[in-house]
Amino acid sequence: MPNSLSMRMRPLPSRRFWVALFAGLLAYVAAGAETSKTGKGGARPDAAQRAAALKRVCERLGIGVGMSIADVGCGNGGDTLTFAEVVGPTGKVFGQEIEQKLLDAMMQKARERKLTQVQPVLGATEDPRLPDGVLDLIYMHQVFHHFAKPSSMLSNLWIDLKPGGWLVIVDRQKGPQREWPDLAAREKKHFWTGETTVVRLAREAGFLFASALDDLWMDKEPFVLVFRKPAGIKKPAGDPDLPLAINGKAMASALPALPPGPATVLFAGLDQGRLALPALRQQFKSRPVILDVVLEEWTTQNEELPSDLRGNASGVVRLVKGDLPEKTGGGLQAAVFADSYSRLWDPAPLLRRLRQELAPGGYVAVMDRHGPEGEPRRLAGHHRHIAPGLVKADFEKAGFALAKELKPPAADRFFLLFRPAAN
Ligand SMILES: C[S@@+](CC[C@H](N)C(=O)[O-])C[C@H]1O[C@@H](n2cnc3c(N)ncnc32)[C@H](O)[C@@H]1O
Repeated sequence: MPNSLSMRMRPLPSRRFWVALFAGLLAYVAAGAETSKTGKGGARPDAAQRAAALKRVCERLGIGVGMSIADVGCGNGGDTLTFAEVVGPTGKVFGQEIEQKLLDAMMQKARERKLTQVQPVLGATEDPRLPDGVLDLIYMHQVFHHFAKPSSMLSNLWIDLKPGGWLVIVDRQKGPQREWPDLAAREKKHFWTGETTVVRLAREAGFLFASALDDLWMDKEPFVLVFRKPAGIKKPAGDPDLPLAINGKAMASALPALPPGPATVLFAGLDQGRLALPALRQQFKSRPVILDVVLEEWTTQNEELPSDLRGNASGVVRLVKGDLPEKTGGGLQAAVFADSYSRLWDPAPLLRRLRQELAPGGYVAVMDRHGPEGEPRRLAGHHRHIAPGLVKADFEKAGFALAKELKPPAADRFFLLFRPAAN
């Protein structure tokens, strides 16, 4: 052990030591800025990790030298400059923003690095003002949730992509929407947009859902959703991957009759599945109260309703955190999912509730598009299909038994009938 005298006798550190210590401290402080907390625990990954993730995504999508990319809502352009490396001097990268000062900061860095392929674009709230039909990739990182006019933005971005071009949306809120601010309030503040809402809006704007590339990202929280502009379509005309049209009457007539007396039926129908509702009203001779269920997975704004529900707001129930907000009041005889079950992020709360509230002899029917067995639920939902095996497993877990396979109302669908399992 050194005694106090020998410590005092030690020579003072050299000037080089102090310079190195100071440089080390500076580096530590700089690193601290990069790794500041993201707000939910994890440290923000550093710029090198982010650049590596972007390059992995580009590689997976076949984006490389000579191509054109837009970094929408590019901020001060960190990612834009990475893309400039990916496309090289023969390519083009548009750093797009609604804040001129951020574009100025980006261009300052681009000039310092002599990246002449970087071009700034000042956009507007609903129009990115990018050139039409020339982009191989449109990317946005933590920007979608700021869009005050998401549908207009998506429609314009569709036009800006080449046919077959990619749209990559990286953002934070996995699963359904949980915050419902006014859209206009989003531009300047952080309110997260659920990925299910992002998928719905992108599909409605004419994009095909392709995949999720979260495995290539470096942060655990964000979702990385990939869409494609279909080739061979001149103008977007809604979701390009809708299931086949169904015969609503055929679907309704396959369902068992309800017992006589007052009854309540829950109906959750989306897209083509909504065609079954008028037929159901006619089919059930007992004239039950039909509660039209609005899934959080569908909505963009809390008060928003599917178009054929507007003006008919009585009997509408909104799910809250995947569950009914209150008891149905007894007499629940049936629940019918029509092209909507696949969209549930987590069906467990609702199935548990149906198992508790269903009257003896009641049933739950699920009609949906066939998906491949083994596909993760999240991707199945984004693709708007689901494996019947997954549906059966969910219901079994919730205390139901498969009662019958009904005749599906179109060739791409399955139709299953469940009743509470005997205890
Ligand atoms: C959280 S920052 C993300 C910046 C950058 N993408 C990044 O990840 O470092 C969100 C950016 O989106 C921009 N923004 C908001 N609404 C926009 C819109 N309609 N069009 C383009 N950019 C928008 C904001 O100005 C802001 O710079």
